[in-house]
Amino acid sequence: MQEPHVRDSLGSLLRSWDGEEVIIRHDAPTGAWIAIAIYSTRLGPATGGTRMRPYPDLTAAVRDALHLAESMAYKFAIADFPRGGGKAVIAVPPDLRPEERPALLRRYGSLIKGLGGLYETGPDIGTSPEDMDLIAETGAPHVFCRTPAAGGAGDSGPATARGVFEGIRVVCRHLWDGDVSGRRVLVQGAGSVGGRLIELLRAARAEVLVSDVDERALRRFRGEPGVTLLPPHAVLDTPCDVFAPCALGGVLSEETIPRLRCRAVAGAANNQLAAEDDAARLQERAILYAPDFVLNLGGAVAITGVEALGWPAAEAEERVAGIVADALQHILATAAAEGITTVAAGRRLAESRLYGELHSSSQL
Ligand code: NAI
Ligand code: PHE
Repeated sequence: MQEPHVRDSLGSLLRSWDGEEVIIRHDAPTGAWIAIAIYSTRLGPATGGTRMRPYPDLTAAVRDALHLAESMAYKFAIADFPRGGGKAVIAVPPDLRPEERPALLRRYGSLIKGLGGLYETGPDIGTSPEDMDLIAETGAPHVFCRTPAAGGAGDSGPATARGVFEGIRVVCRHLWDGDVSGRRVLVQGAGSVGGRLIELLRAARAEVLVSDVDERALRRFRGEPGVTLLPPHAVLDTPCDVFAPCALGGVLSEETIPRLRCRAVAGAANNQLAAEDDAARLQERAILYAPDFVLNLGGAVAITGVEALGWPAAEAEERVAGIVADALQHILATAAAEGITTVAAGRRLAESRLYGELHSSSQL
């Protein structure tokens, strides 16, 4: 008898959202739910990754899609890039059999195709370039990051990591007037983005602390000079200069912020703040927060730039590194000059491009 409550909370969630459209589809053969959130098409087709994982219920899945779609709109706006923001969530049953997956992804591709270019996708947590190949069988041309063998630009993780690395360099210059060399950077999550970020930090002679819940992700860093492995429960309490969350969202909250022992948070994870007030909580503790929608725009912008706008692949990472550095410097200067949070300053920059200079919802 939980159904009326679920319906109510889903209804209020959708009513209070200020995006453009949400498409929800039940996939009868697998029992999966597909939610595609179109936050904004003002700057171009709504573009964003496909997150595929189990959720406790449909409302939780839709909530994730809505938040993530908004972040995508902010990323593209910050980069002044002709794409709008969207995101898809495929909420799969925990017992989905591997052999059911390809057909589910092809049905999802047909759904995207039917939207006629309103929404374009790429990978996110739980999907890979190989999955993009399957989705593209029915969803092309609205699918980015296919494997190079299938004609795509492949994984977006390395370009995202390049942007995050550049953001950490800006943070180091801002706080210590120096580079990352010798700084202690704690990377949470050594996956596609975090793994490459660790390599970049090591090449720049940072001292790197790494944590991951999956032993396989840590294997290649075990015994590496300059890299210390940490158990997941030690992440929040370990002293470091920069904390770089590169795993799941919601890591910065009323409960976790008081425990942090860093001077800055600068990482890739989408939607790191559990609640809006957490930006002010970080500011009160004098912890510099580099907004996630600025730091992690590199993958989506670089790959979309290469595949849709014809950017030379060899230049894409350099371009997004410059975009992240310029935007973050501007945001830090605005936040300092006006005494507002970095999130408010970042929103203002994005909204000036999304809606024009006069509009801003960011009064924090
Ligand atoms: P991934 O799935 O390749 O790696 C995530 C890693 O985090 C995995 O190794 C996982 O075991 C680990 N992890 C999960 N929970 C953890 C915990 N509690 N403590 C420590 N490690 C934990 O994902 P990917 O692609 O590297 O993305 C990382 C984050 O960055 C995600 O939040 C994603 O949404 C975001 N992001 C990724 C982009 C991309 O281009 N891949 C672009 C923009 C944002
Ligand atoms: N996962 C990417 C992000 O959150 C989404 C993406 C990657 C979209 C590549 C398009 C192309 O930014």
